[in-house]
Amino acid sequence: MFRLRNSGLRAVAAICPPRGGLLADGFIDSQQVICPPHNHAFRLINGQCTTGAPSVRAYPMHAEDGELTLRLDTPQ
Ligand code: FES
Repeated sequence: MFRLRNSGLRAVAAICPPRGGLLADGFIDSQQVICPPHNHAFRLINGQCTTGAPSVRAYPMHAEDGELTLRLDTPQ
């Protein structure tokens, strides 16, 4: 899960498909996370890889009354 500077929330699968890198260790901006080992980039909104690797799952999430809700049954 990532909280963006504009307070938006994004959630993607934790493991990078090519070789199992941890996306939580990646570098993010407002639109993508870059996995450190091989620099594949994944869109935070839908998990699509923009550098040729398989995509990761992305999950809708929101915050309400101090609680985070993550929907695992409806990947984006
Ligand atoms: S393990 Fe993520 S880019 Fe290689």
